[in-house]
Amino acid sequence: MDILTEIKVPIQEEIKNFDESFREALLSDNELINKAVDHFLQKKGKNLRPILVLLAAKCATGSVNQKSFDSAIALELFHNATLLHDDVLDETNMRRGLETINSKFNSKLAVLLGDYFLSIALQKAVTTDNIYIVKSLSEFAATSVDGEIQQMFTAQSANFSEENYYKIIYKKTASLFETCFRVGALSVDSSEERIEKLEKFAYYLGLIFQIRDDIFDYFKSDEVGKPTGNDIREGKVTLPLIYALNTSVNGVGEKMLNIIREKDFTPENIQLLINFAVENQGIEYAEKKMEEFKVKALECLEEFTDTAEKESLKTVLNYTIQRNK
Ligand code: IPE
Ligand code: IPE
Ligand code: MG
Ligand code: MG
Repeated sequence: MDILTEIKVPIQEEIKNFDESFREALLSDNELINKAVDHFLQKKGKNLRPILVLLAAKCATGSVNQKSFDSAIALELFHNATLLHDDVLDETNMRRGLETINSKFNSKLAVLLGDYFLSIALQKAVTTDNIYIVKSLSEFAATSVDGEIQQMFTAQSANFSEENYYKIIYKKTASLFETCFRVGALSVDSSEERIEKLEKFAYYLGLIFQIRDDIFDYFKSDEVGKPTGNDIREGKVTLPLIYALNTSVNGVGEKMLNIIREKDFTPENIQLLINFAVENQGIEYAEKKMEEFKVKALECLEEFTDTAEKESLKTVLNYTIQRNK
């Protein structure tokens, strides 16, 4: 059994129900929307956000309900909306091994389709009839946009501290993981105390998730389903390169910084920057950080009863560190 299948064992039936409802939620009487959605969903993602919503609900109280399903759909829709918009911002032509909407159709349709996903996500959130779920989703929406803008600003200002990096990846990625856990637990009326523990676990899990995603960008891969080397081309300096820039001693770092400041991102220079990060132990450092965050994440689960769902959450941590797509 592969590790993602193993993670889903405690929520096998629930995930089937999710799969059926997800496509249905997006059906429209506009044929262009249906055509674009069909293309986009030809290959599904990992469905990690709905998996987390359902596991959080079960971990918090042992059960899930219709509000948990509607929340899971809302969160996956939100996530997909951010991907549609992100591919416009990053000018990317491939995602999940398929041509992106901005590339196959155009950027205008990709922006509008992202907005469509967001609108349906809001409708699903409202269906839960729980104002705290709607509040949590809308707060996340603002935080993630804030993260993308901060990332863009950082690329322009060329101020690459590790602290700033964690702030950005918290906002753009880990905040969504926190929201999955909060909303999942809210859907089954869990206590605030339990919610906060789960959220803290999600915070570290989300940071790990983005660090691993950022590492993908330093290597060629047929499996990851999206182009690599792309972050640097967009001026996004991520943990391995930040570490190398901040620790290099022989003047090479200064040369690398100049390339970044001048945005001289020719294919040769991108390769130079990648090699610089790899040769200066940037990848090992990022892997060490993921392990540190894993220890902190595990501490947050200590008070929860040992159940199959809790075991799955621990497996999600390992999967996030080891995954290759
Ligand atoms: C990609 O998320 C965006 C990031 C936060 C790095 P996923 O890797 O979970 O995307 P899918 O949904 O599985 O394609
Ligand atoms: C995560 O950043 C994007 C969002 C949170 C929307 P990336 O730009 O690294 O995501 P990928 O690599 O394109 O999936
Ligand atoms: Mg991107
Ligand atoms: Mg990425």
